[in-house]
Amino acid sequence: MASGKHGESMTSVVLGVSAGIAVYKSCELLRLFTESGHDVRVVPTRDALRFVGEPTWAALSGNPVTTEVWQSVHEVPHVRIGKAADLVVVAPATADVLARAAHGIADDLLTNTLLTARCPVVFAPAMHTEMWEHPATRANVATLRERGAIVIEPAVGRLTGADSGPGRLPDPAEIFEVCRRVLTGRREDLAGRHVVVSAGGTREAIDPVRFIGNRSSGLQGYALARTAVARGAEVTLVAANVTLPDPAGAKIVRVESARQMRDAVLAAAEHADAVVMAAAVADFRPVRQSDTKIKKSSAEPDPIHLVKNPDILAELGEIRRARREAYAHDAERPGGPYPRVIVGFAAETDDVLANGRAKLERKGCDLLVVNQVGEHLAFGTPDNAAVVLTAEGGSVEIPRGPKEDLADVVWDLVAQRLA
Ligand code: CTP
Repeated sequence: MASGKHGESMTSVVLGVSAGIAVYKSCELLRLFTESGHDVRVVPTRDALRFVGEPTWAALSGNPVTTEVWQSVHEVPHVRIGKAADLVVVAPATADVLARAAHGIADDLLTNTLLTARCPVVFAPAMHTEMWEHPATRANVATLRERGAIVIEPAVGRLTGADSGPGRLPDPAEIFEVCRRVLTGRREDLAGRHVVVSAGGTREAIDPVRFIGNRSSGLQGYALARTAVARGAEVTLVAANVTLPDPAGAKIVRVESARQMRDAVLAAAEHADAVVMAAAVADFRPVRQSDTKIKKSSAEPDPIHLVKNPDILAELGEIRRARREAYAHDAERPGGPYPRVIVGFAAETDDVLANGRAKLERKGCDLLVVNQVGEHLAFGTPDNAAVVLTAEGGSVEIPRGPKEDLADVVWDLVAQRLA
């Protein structure tokens, strides 16, 4: 840590940038670091400067910018910069930089810095899908992870040119959030675990342009996914109609309706240690969905008749109960092959605790996060307050605060149950 203007401790961050078109997004990442009081030293590779030049990095960071070990030799930058860092983040990390880092090659200032750093290292890869999926890159990523580096999964989406697939640099705010968590204390208590999180609100079609929906924004589910990634979990995020930036590192499955969500959640649950149902799932859907737009000119509008949707949370609980019975005498897997922890959310407007307790029992989950909803409460706001009820009859109160804090309490309870 360095000493700041007012004597407070400042965190030293090295932002390594390698030569990918996504370099422009790293300017925003740099701004997020500097605005939150971090001292950032940018170390670009030679070719990265073809995309964004040295003056931009120097002006935005307020620090000199060097790419070669031969510059400012008297300061021994190849050793000093790495040793002084509290965090090194490489964004974007190209296939080439991942390969050089995995093999310990030190042929420029960035790779020298990676070898001398003793702090946490985060790589945010960005490249074409074929390069990301190539066995050479897979092996390099595995090596780096084995050595303790955090390699964020690239986002899926439009890449340079016409192609799309995994390989996009995640949103700078998402990379920043991973780094912030690494800097504020790294808990890897979900490492090696696979968790499934559902988020958002389902839409039930009336006709091709209209639907029955709800007010869920997906913020709480996304916070759960983001925090689980930061705690080392492999995360499958089943997202219904969410427009937020993808949480870095989570595998995202997009769905629209309750029935699509059911299929996606049950499929992912087969390989999961825990499932958290934070989505607002529509309880009903129209019996009939018109293939064509219902016109205003229809003489008398038909009433919309509704039918019940599957209750995904209750079904998860029921499948687990049945498997536990079937596998009761299996010495190797007495619990059967199913998530050991199932977490539900309950939105209640009145009689919050009594309704919550009844819901937990009815749905057969281990934990139920109960929050009071209504105008200005929970939906679409960055804050949330809740009570977590446990299957054993206990309760944990979570005071109003950021949805990330609530998510962390949920993962604390999940991690305890998995331990
Ligand atoms: N849920 C689900 N499938 C449904 C409805 C809800 O999996 N068809 C899940 C939600 O994701 C949440 C929990 O069940 O984790 C509770 O949702 P809530 O809407 O509060 O409960 P309901 O079952 O709809 O009960 P009620 O309408 O009586 O409050």
